[in-house]
Amino acid sequence: MSRRVVYTRGGAPADVLTVIEEPEPAAPGTGQVLVRATAFPVHPGDLQAVEAYPGNSGQPVPAGVEATGVVEAIGPGTPVAPGVAPGARVTVFPHPGAWSQWIMAAARAVVAVPAGVPDEVAAQMLVNPITAVMLRREAEAHASIGYDGVLLQTAAGSSVGRLLTAVSQAHDISLVNVVRSERGATELRHRFPDVPVVATEHAGWADDVRSAVGDRPLSVALDPIGGKLAESLVDLLTPGGTLVCYGQMAAEPISLPASTLLHKSLTLRGRSIGHWMSDTPLDRQVSDVAAAKMIATTAKDQFDVAATYGLGDLAEAVDHAQRPGKVGTVLIRPW
Ligand SMILES: NC(=O)c1ccc[n+]([C@@H]2O[C@H](COP(=O)([O-])OP(=O)(O)OC[C@H]3O[C@@H](n4cnc5c(N)ncnc54)[C@H](OP(=O)(O)O)[C@@H]3O)[C@@H](O)[C@H]2O)c1
Repeated sequence: MSRRVVYTRGGAPADVLTVIEEPEPAAPGTGQVLVRATAFPVHPGDLQAVEAYPGNSGQPVPAGVEATGVVEAIGPGTPVAPGVAPGARVTVFPHPGAWSQWIMAAARAVVAVPAGVPDEVAAQMLVNPITAVMLRREAEAHASIGYDGVLLQTAAGSSVGRLLTAVSQAHDISLVNVVRSERGATELRHRFPDVPVVATEHAGWADDVRSAVGDRPLSVALDPIGGKLAESLVDLLTPGGTLVCYGQMAAEPISLPASTLLHKSLTLRGRSIGHWMSDTPLDRQVSDVAAAKMIATTAKDQFDVAATYGLGDLAEAVDHAQRPGKVGTVLIRPW
């Protein structure tokens, strides 16, 4: 038998996620690759999908979108990416239902793991690095980024935020990191001594951002929080600046006077990896996956693992993934 994580209704992930047993998969057909999973990440987006699930048919919905493992078999006549072969280490994304011992993946979602990249990094090799690459592209869509303009990101201590900082440093993008606590700021300063960090727990934090930016334009803000924090970012942005929202952690809405948009001529954009999957041309997706593999190879130290759990400790793993102050991604080893 094979074990898989599913939910049948929306709600608090620790309450509604459960592990079921099902028959082991048959041999893969054409276009498919059978992967024996070795680890998968618990991303905030996975848990948001569970919370927001509107269905109530009682049918099990498989959870997760990304996993790493070893190729067990490839369907006859199936074209595969370079390095994908029986016995090879691979990462699978996007695959709805990746939180499973066995994964019957579409061949186009299976990517070989570079030699020297450990399983703990391979398990996080695609979703977050592709997000960082996508956000870099969004930032560089503003003409000043890479020149005199400054980029700001909030939740900078997150898994995505650390990768974005590494990417920005590699591409000479001036960055100001914003986190919510002084504890998080201290951790980031230690990690990236050259990148200014501001903690919003201090009342004067917006002035601290202005000091860090100096005379240069604050052209783009990348924000996965929203709410009141996003309102403050709009105030901080230079005229003609862009706010890119890529998450929804704040409960409250973003509230803005129209005059702010009007007089500052700002751009507000939303960006998600869902858009990346649906709107990005295939050749760009292939190049972004190559960039993600490069990030996994060159920035291994930024793929921290908060903790590793077994399938038997699923609720604990989910709880840990939502814990404030955690550094890194929670992984599950399914065997
Ligand atoms: N749009 C997309 O396609 C996409 C793709 C990947 C990720 N994301 C989003 O990116 C964000 C980060 O993901 P991740 O996996 O990197 O997360 P993560 O490693 O779990 O880190 C979460 C971070 O968010 C901070 N945080 C949580 N609630 C906050 C709040 N109310 N105000 C300020 N900071 C808060 C935490 O700060 P503390 O350290 O202080 O607790 C922590 O640094 C999530 O919102 C996720 O949904 C979006």
